Amino acid sequence: MTKTEAKRVIEKLRKGIPVPDGFVRLFTVGRKDEIGKLENALVDPKSTALLLNANYGSGKTQMLRFLREEALKSGYAVAMIYCDSKAGIRFNRMDQVFGAVCRHIEIPDCAEKGILSFLRWFHEKIPSTSSSYWRKLSANGAWSRSETLTSPALYVALRAYRFGNEESQRLLEDWLMNPQTYKTKRKMLYENFVKVSRQFSDPRPAWKFYQDGVFIFDQQGYAQCWAALTDLDTLAKKSGLKGLVLLFDEFEEILTNLRNIQHEETAILNLFDFNEGKRFSGKTFFAVTPEFVEKCKIRLMDRDRYDFEFARFKKINQFEMSPLSSEQVVELIEQQIIPAHSLAYGWKPKVRPDSFTKWVNSIMRQRIQDRTRLAITDIIKQLDIVLDKQK
Ligand SMILES: Nc1ncnc2c1ncn2[C@@H]1O[C@H](COP(=O)(O)OP(=O)(O)OP(=O)(O)O)[C@@H](O)[C@H]1O
Ligand SMILES: [Mg+2]
Repeated sequence: MTKTEAKRVIEKLRKGIPVPDGFVRLFTVGRKDEIGKLENALVDPKSTALLLNANYGSGKTQMLRFLREEALKSGYAVAMIYCDSKAGIRFNRMDQVFGAVCRHIEIPDCAEKGILSFLRWFHEKIPSTSSSYWRKLSANGAWSRSETLTSPALYVALRAYRFGNEESQRLLEDWLMNPQTYKTKRKMLYENFVKVSRQFSDPRPAWKFYQDGVFIFDQQGYAQCWAALTDLDTLAKKSGLKGLVLLFDEFEEILTNLRNIQHEETAILNLFDFNEGKRFSGKTFFAVTPEFVEKCKIRLMDRDRYDFEFARFKKINQFEMSPLSSEQVVELIEQQIIPAHSLAYGWKPKVRPDSFTKWVNSIMRQRIQDRTRLAITDIIKQLDIVLDKQK
């Protein structure tokens, strides 16, 4: 770790948030068994979705970030999505969820995020349109349908990327990242992505594209969004990755973000669909507090939705994260935080062995919620004060 990196790490920890990408593994203590189980969920072909339960401030984001690093390292494409109110993603709107996946998707060893880098990766791996995969993709050069992709829009996008110029690639990036803003622009999309290409000829007339809703993501229960998500997983697998992993942080906000019970119901049904693995072939992790499922049920009951499919809650795979122990927090402070603070500001704090144990114990005894965060922010505050005095 360099001095600048150490500074960036301490700045995050000072605010009580997880360390920057690339340092999460190094700054994670404990939870060996839990990490092992989560890693199994990544490799188990039967595992679909998992709710990660932990109290406020006790490491949900950190664990998702850990999973992100782990998944990238073992060769998955990953999209980590924050569902807080600022992100403006409503979980009943699968077009917004799909757009968010396209904005956040990343592949191993590539600093750039987003759907264009994913498509670039795919084309680098399978460049030749005379390869057997492209022949299947294009239904043996017929171009009017695909034998491998299930979303007509993603098929249009993939070939527009392959044959288009930089301008049309930027347009298709914006379209996939924000499909909801293109609802009335199907003619423009057709003219940019289908009509102009000289390298292939799709025999379908324009009206057929419009009639079939090729450019539309929000019809028929957002069927095209689910299909496109599965296609991203398929393309990842075809291009040598292990598949697509979606990580949803602050997932609880899906309840507070939605004003209308029908929307809430749809959002919960979408969670069920991810969990049951029939509409999306990749893996999904959701970070929530332990009361999340109970909260969902209460909200539905409070609004008299007695005919809701409550039985589907039972199928949800849940993973309870144990809170960090005092010893683990002390280990983090002594072995990672103090050395990083000392590197960042070029000083050597005088620390007696075991000097933090009592103090961390007292914080950890006080409360359950937010105690890990409190212990970390507090120790940095103290280090800052001592450093200031020494100057
Ligand atoms: N296993 C861990 N090892 C080391 N540090 C951790 C671990 N888990 C959490 N932390 C640290 O504790 C603090 C709080 O963690 P985090 O932000 O992940 O909690 P959270 O559950 O997501 O909180 P919130 O409910 O507010 O979203 C962060 O500074 C994080 O780096
Ligand atoms: Mg968090």
